[in-house]
Amino acid sequence: MSEVAAATFPLACPPGSTPADIAAFIAEWLSPERFEEYLADPDRIVLKAVSDDRIVGYSLLHTAEPANPDVAAVITLRPVTELSKMYVLPGHHGNGVSGELMTTVLETAKADGSAAVWLGVNQENVRAQRFYRKHGFAIAGTKTFLVGTQSHSDYVMQYAF
Ligand SMILES: CC(C)(COP(=O)(O)OP(=O)(O)OC[C@H]1O[C@@H](n2cnc3c(N)ncnc32)[C@H](O)[C@@H]1OP(=O)(O)O)[C@@H](O)C(=O)NCCC(=O)NCCS
Repeated sequence: MSEVAAATFPLACPPGSTPADIAAFIAEWLSPERFEEYLADPDRIVLKAVSDDRIVGYSLLHTAEPANPDVAAVITLRPVTELSKMYVLPGHHGNGVSGELMTTVLETAKADGSAAVWLGVNQENVRAQRFYRKHGFAIAGTKTFLVGTQSHSDYVMQYAF
């Protein structure tokens, strides 16, 4: 899963991102050790998309109070789940894998008792925004997101059950 994360994270970064900043983010947040922590954390759920016995995508749900004040100001439904990561390998884009993963994300959050799911998406990542809109998310606000030393502009999107 860490390999899929490292292969797909750069796809979500805007063109101005430097390779060094992307590499620093991957090393800090997407290492095998980090995934062991995510899998062991009772407030996090990791979902995998599998095709021909290989992991081709994953998502990470995090149930917690939004720590970012820009998010807390616009995401007010409780309890709330963050869709912290949603990544599918390029060879499986546009073929329904991501849609199935998103359906499972929403079913899981609902079964967990969440009133809403929120996420951050880079303002230049039009494909992901379109995907999220298609699945019922709407823009609720904006925030920044740090990749290495660079601060990026995100939209905050919400799906309310
Ligand atoms: C985001 C992601 C999971 C969506 O999965 P997907 O299989 O690409 O999604 P879909 O094909 O169902 O939907 C994408 C939509 O964007 C459209 N699209 C594709 N490329 C596009 C582009 N360059 N610009 C604008 N729209 C684009 C597709 O046509 C489709 O819309 P449609 O169904 O109305 O035709 C996947 O693209 C991915 O993993 N991307 C890389 C990582 C990433 O950006 N993750 C999100 C981080 S917030």
